[in-house]
Amino acid sequence: MRSSLSDPRLSVIEKRLANVRTIIPVMSPKGGVGKTLVSTLLAYSLGKQGLKTALLDLDITNPTAHIVLGINTSEVKPREEKGLIPPSIHGIYFMSVAYFIEEDKPLPLRGDEIDNVIREILAITIWGSLDALIIDTPPGTSDEVLDVLNYFRGIRPIVVTTPSPLSIKSLERLLQLLIDYRVEVLGVIENMYRGEQVSARIHEITKKYGVKYLGFIPYEKDIDKYIGNVKEMEKTLFYKSIEKIASTIM
Ligand SMILES: Nc1ncnc2c1ncn2[C@@H]1O[C@H](COP(=O)(O)OP(=O)(O)O)[C@@H](O)[C@H]1O
Ligand SMILES: [Mg+2]
Repeated sequence: MRSSLSDPRLSVIEKRLANVRTIIPVMSPKGGVGKTLVSTLLAYSLGKQGLKTALLDLDITNPTAHIVLGINTSEVKPREEKGLIPPSIHGIYFMSVAYFIEEDKPLPLRGDEIDNVIREILAITIWGSLDALIIDTPPGTSDEVLDVLNYFRGIRPIVVTTPSPLSIKSLERLLQLLIDYRVEVLGVIENMYRGEQVSARIHEITKKYGVKYLGFIPYEKDIDKYIGNVKEMEKTLFYKSIEKIASTIM
């Protein structure tokens, strides 16, 4: 149990999220598997479908979603109005700790401090009514991920994995954790797909845990060229795969 359970921000957080229809944290057992690209482009794609969508970058010590969106966080800022209203970027409401830190400065925070920053962000952000809130998270079962599990009700996480044996190994661990928390997983996305043979193991695991395999995103060697330019990103196979998945989840 946490020591500050009487923190008044906790009841504020619940009210702030009261009109958000679906909360989709994008999680992964391992770093560098494409969570940030997936969460950002998934939010963008849902926004394009006409759904009222927001994106929250909860990778507190290493926020990067704004880089995918191509915005300068020293110029674009949330609007203050008895809280903070996230700016609309490419059709999605975007909130990140990046607005409040200097771009190239490290943010060394311990567990309690991370928890505190997350409570603060969740308590001050005015989402209004949303169809979907997509959350980018750091890998594994870090503090941010545990906070997501503790502070958000009725979340439907998407888990991203790659066919690498290292990622697959920890996929089971993460799925088990989510099941232990009684969280209903929306499904698993296989990123950097390299062919059916390696995929088979992921299919086995999703079957074993009763979780849906949402689809795959092929390995696309030039993907980094389009980071920061969503219009160009739209032409990639990566985005087209995301779009296909996005059309099935809401
Ligand atoms: N489908 C893909 N094909 C090729 N490279 C990819 C793909 N997905 C991700 N990457 C590479 O992995 C890097 C890390 O992606 P990112 O979304 O930041 O992962 P995470 O948030 O899980 O750490 C990207 O910058 C890109 O170079
Ligand atoms: Mg990331």
